[in-house]
Amino acid sequence: MPIEKVGVVGCGLMGSGIAQVAAQGGYPVVVREVSEQLVEKGLKSIEKNLGRLVEKGTMSAPDRDQVRGRLRGTTNLDDLKGCDLIVEAIIEQLPAKRELWSALDKLCPKSTIFASNTSSLSITEMATFTQRPDRFLGLHFFNPVPVMKLVEVIRTIATDPKVYDDALAFGAKLGKTPVRTTDRTGFIVNRLLVPYILDAVRALEEGVGSIEDIDNSMKLGCGHPMGPLTLLDFVGLDTTYYIANIMFDEFKEKRFAPPPLLKRMVLAGWHGRKTGRGFYDYTDPAKPMPMRLS
Ligand code: CAA
Repeated sequence: MPIEKVGVVGCGLMGSGIAQVAAQGGYPVVVREVSEQLVEKGLKSIEKNLGRLVEKGTMSAPDRDQVRGRLRGTTNLDDLKGCDLIVEAIIEQLPAKRELWSALDKLCPKSTIFASNTSSLSITEMATFTQRPDRFLGLHFFNPVPVMKLVEVIRTIATDPKVYDDALAFGAKLGKTPVRTTDRTGFIVNRLLVPYILDAVRALEEGVGSIEDIDNSMKLGCGHPMGPLTLLDFVGLDTTYYIANIMFDEFKEKRFAPPPLLKRMVLAGWHGRKTGRGFYDYTDPAKPMPMRLS
């Protein structure tokens, strides 16, 4: 059965981005949040992004209106009943995902494909919350979703190959480059990225360089769009700490162990850009200032 209508659960940073690119890809999209305020906030951020594309001349105003017209927000899970594919982008906590997936499993026809945008939890474990492990996979997008060209498409040992092909085609229809990977914590990107950014924190702890010098080294020496500490602030120190712990728990390898400085900063509530403080102070978001951490 072809994918004709898409459901997205969660309209935060990732969910709103996924809903936006799915609507841009031509799909009618129902996006669900737990409260009216969160639905409104998510849709407003999509409208702002689409508005920016029109201002830049990348999208025409009538196209923007069509994309917006394909998006519907809801707080009611029942409204996802008619979707052929549901992408989940809610909080990275297994109990919350369990509750959601088992409710959706009861609600949706057997044909609906379920996909999680998790960056670190086990897709195989999530599939066990449903009666459809053959129609369950991972679709891992990257922040900011409208800009980053990649989607990791994750199969488990139980995913039906036909369903997997449909998911790869869906990723391509969204204008992304889908990469194939299997259900191993961190998949491809975080497997490589997490040890790198944790090492940047270790380098800072060991006095190898200052915050700015570490960032400039990777930006100017290796052509990365952001230095690793800026990237950590962008992704969120709490999110990275959480992912690193899951990866360490899975592989028991030192390279995935969160360094003490990262833990202390998370405990202090310095979660990066979203809390106004991380490795940089974002009091003036246009001019982040490196923090004094010792
Ligand atoms: N939403 C939509 N569009 C955005 C955006 C956002 N949040 N932020 C920036 N953009 C767009 C801008 O409008 C601009 O578009 P045009 O080129 O068409 O004008 C373009 O992106 C570039 O933006 P800027 O000029 O403002 O800034 P920049 O050149 O510094 O780029 C960036 C910003 C795209 C975020 C770039 O710095 C970058 O690629 N950083 C690395 C991001 C990254 O590594 N993401 C992956 C994180 S890991 C993850 O997500 C997965 C996980 O599991 C943790």
